[in-house]
Amino acid sequence: METLVEVLEKQSELNEAVQPRLISISIAGKRYAVPEGLTILKALEYAGYRLVRGVGCRGGFCGACATVYRVADDYRLKIGLACQTMIEENMYLTQIPFYPAQKATYDLRALRPAGDVFIRFYPEILRCLQCNTCRKVCPQDLDVMRYIAAAQRGEVDRVADLSFDCLQCGLCASRCPAEIAHYHVAQLGRRLYGRYRQPLAAHLSRRLAEITEGQFDDELSRLQRMSRQELESLYAQREIEPEETTPAKKDED
Ligand code: SF4
Ligand code: SF4
Ligand code: FES
Repeated sequence: METLVEVLEKQSELNEAVQPRLISISIAGKRYAVPEGLTILKALEYAGYRLVRGVGCRGGFCGACATVYRVADDYRLKIGLACQTMIEENMYLTQIPFYPAQKATYDLRALRPAGDVFIRFYPEILRCLQCNTCRKVCPQDLDVMRYIAAAQRGEVDRVADLSFDCLQCGLCASRCPAEIAHYHVAQLGRRLYGRYRQPLAAHLSRRLAEITEGQFDDELSRLQRMSRQELESLYAQREIEPEETTPAKKDED
């Protein structure tokens, strides 16, 4: 029969085996020991940061978690989304939850999707040096330089197409020597495309008419009068579309 000391030793070995290894990282200039295998976002939270800005979807879609980092003994600054990038030993990192690039204001209804529409609001796009830095830093691997070139030519469709997956993280603007706010230029392109190039969605027009005619007013008033408890119960009983299941893959002959 095992002695108590043997049992405790075994338990201690077992604990060591399941404990993740801690690695050292530096967040905004302060050192922390965090378990390896975490994303930067999880490491920030493990270290005690309560993120109000700098986090959103947690799935690589919203662009809120732009991060700049460097690893010891490497002079290069790298970028990544905190929710998608894994920590490394001796990583030095800081977040850029908001990049203060200038954003033009405009009335989309007064614009036309052609000619100098981009240059009018963002004349600095003409200063592009074609260094391609914007493309190299884009976590979405977008051809940013090319959509800026399309904006110079007033090609709304091309700008919208090339920038479709832009997350608005601002990392391109943070490194551009010509101080271009690429993502705002791209957003103007997609807005113009949506307003002037895409046909009106018939089902949305119908729903808009139903709302304007007051078809949902009674239902909305009923919801507004409900208590939190009633709302929660209603929410729990809502209809949920069944998840799509992937058909089992057949063995190939
Ligand atoms: S980083 Fe700026 S200057 Fe360089 S290619 Fe991109 S837009 Fe042009
Ligand atoms: S184009 Fe710029 S703002 Fe958009 S995802 Fe790429 S780096 Fe981020
Ligand atoms: S939290 Fe949304 S992209 Fe990272």
